[in-house]
Amino acid sequence: MSPTSEKTKESMGVDPFERNWMIFSIGMLVVFFTLVTVAGFALGFQVPGVETKVDPRTVTVDPASPFSEPGLRKVSEGNYEAYVVARTFSYEPREIEVPVGSKVTIYVTSPDVQHGFKVQDTNINMQIVPGQVSKLEYTFDRVGEFPYICTEFCGIGHAAMFGVVKVVQPGEGGDQ
Ligand code: CUA
Repeated sequence: MSPTSEKTKESMGVDPFERNWMIFSIGMLVVFFTLVTVAGFALGFQVPGVETKVDPRTVTVDPASPFSEPGLRKVSEGNYEAYVVARTFSYEPREIEVPVGSKVTIYVTSPDVQHGFKVQDTNINMQIVPGQVSKLEYTFDRVGEFPYICTEFCGIGHAAMFGVVKVVQPGEGGDQ
């Protein structure tokens, strides 16, 4: 074996400083991969997906569209669907009330420009793009009021876009 090939074997053929950085980088990839896997599968982090594509010109007026009557629908005990329209410059509905422990699948769309939908003190944060329906599932397991706000600058009334999820004790409230 020539001295050159021995040296190659020890250092992977690269400068030790560079090799250490390569090892560090690969280590970081492993750490990030692990964190993303734990967040996704153990902690329930979801990337808000594009549920369906819709025509933004008709999505709120077509009687066949659930967004023609935005609001909360009870699917079964403890299971709800919320259809929310984000438009300049308000949300419809402005208030969603569910009993504590409810799992709510939230669908949001926009008939005009891009908006956001972020629910305070939860990990719900979606971008709302005209022509698409954004969807996230969340279990509201704490009683309280969770305001939702627009997080994408959408025009002069951007700051006026807000609403609230009211999580109440079962039996309280009226519109369920
Ligand atoms: Cu809607 Cu900002």
